[in-house]
Amino acid sequence: MISHLEVLTLGHPQLRCPAQPIFDFTNLDLQNFIDALIEITLSSQGVGIAAPQVGRSDRLMIIASHPNPRYPDAPLMEPVAMLNPRLIGHSADLVEGSEGCLSVPGVRGIVSRYQTVEIEYFDRQGKLQQRQLTDFVARIFQHELDHLNGVLFVDRALKSSVTKC
Ligand code: NI
Repeated sequence: MISHLEVLTLGHPQLRCPAQPIFDFTNLDLQNFIDALIEITLSSQGVGIAAPQVGRSDRLMIIASHPNPRYPDAPLMEPVAMLNPRLIGHSADLVEGSEGCLSVPGVRGIVSRYQTVEIEYFDRQGKLQQRQLTDFVARIFQHELDHLNGVLFVDRALKSSVTKC
């Protein structure tokens, strides 16, 4: 499918709006949207995206970790759609790491995140899933969950840098 989605960038008010819960998990429009989100994530060399980044106020995120020029050390995994994701527990340990965001092009920042998170979400079939995520994938989850609450990584960054001027 050719994606018609456009990623909103820092300054767009939609990025600051909390997203709304999804109630109908299996409708075709939502399923097509999930496919389009996965496609734009991979084609943008992202490792995750959240629905508000393309202007849609759904509590939906994609985690699609894979090594690429933006994140050479990212673990390889199948893209997964998480609907109405929730953080239900976390490690005491925090780790600092470098993040970027498709909505904040050309900027990286050091952000402190929980090393391990216990999460719950509905998969795209509407089945409740529980998982434990660690390290980089846990970081992606926390970054994308922030998007669903109108928060961007630059709000949390301890320091940031530009990739080019
Ligand atoms: Ni982001």
